[in-house]
Amino acid sequence: MKLLLTGLNGTLAPVVARSAAAHGINVFGWNRSAVAPDDASASRAWLEAQRPDMIGHLAVGSVGWARLLAQYAEEHAVPLLFTSTAMVFHNVPDGPHLVGDERNAQDPYGQYKRECEDVISISCPHACIARIGWQIDPSQPGNNMLLALDQWQAKEGRVAASTAWRPACSFMEDTAAALLNLLRAPVPGATHIDSNADEGHNFASIARALKHVFEREAWTILQTEDYVHDQRLAGGGALVAPLSSRLQPLKHTRGDA
Ligand SMILES: NC(=O)c1ccc[n+]([C@@H]2O[C@H](COP(=O)([O-])OP(=O)(O)OC[C@H]3O[C@@H](n4cnc5c(N)ncnc54)[C@H](OP(=O)(O)O)[C@@H]3O)[C@@H](O)[C@H]2O)c1
Repeated sequence: MKLLLTGLNGTLAPVVARSAAAHGINVFGWNRSAVAPDDASASRAWLEAQRPDMIGHLAVGSVGWARLLAQYAEEHAVPLLFTSTAMVFHNVPDGPHLVGDERNAQDPYGQYKRECEDVISISCPHACIARIGWQIDPSQPGNNMLLALDQWQAKEGRVAASTAWRPACSFMEDTAAALLNLLRAPVPGATHIDSNADEGHNFASIARALKHVFEREAWTILQTEDYVHDQRLAGGGALVAPLSSRLQPLKHTRGDA
């Protein structure tokens, strides 16, 4: 079984790759310096030569690249998984956001992801679009909540965390396992993967729990109310374990204010 995973130099794809390899799946990446994703004929020729059995598109790349992968997956009837984001939803109207809610992103990243979602679902109706929240991992560099809070502390001397924000978020190992499950047993259309969906912890509580569990004694957490958003990605079922299974202190703060 050959899995093409884009974005292998990124944050999350290497974790998915480890999980896939542990299941005996042969993972290979897309070397963008050898084959430019926006060179459609070269990309198509490369895909035809590689013949992946499954495609996980985790890279952030052009909308055209997303379309090309979707067209290939449709023509060859191979599972395609695309990682989208909670940011396709603006904070007004507030969440929790359901799969079928209007995707009213106002910022360029959310709008870009919405556009990718659209071209993928048009070109490949069987594709799985997995919307995920902010990822957490003890060590993985890149876009990672724990390391971001380290950086805030180092730069600003404190970690400002809003009690009015209930973020969509999950540990990377859990997200990776859920993404792999979706590749092996595809669910067409959009799916929500969020470990905070049912428990609804606010960001200040999550920051305090991270501080405790990962022994960040140096963090000074400043509780604010400056970002107001129930960002949770609801309706995804039990694809990932709840946040409190990873962050023990949250067992006592379910949905606190
Ligand atoms: N990390 C999070 O908290 C989070 C939250 C929500 C959604 N997501 C989504 O999940 C996916 C994986 O996230 P991530 O954190 O691993 O992303 P990331 O660390 O930013 O990595 C994305 C990868 O995309 C490729 N890439 C970067 N710029 C590109 C460009 N201009 N054209 C084509 N490819 C480019 C690179 O991989 P190569 O060099 O290997 O090609 C890069 O390492 C992304 O689609 C992201 O939007 C992540």
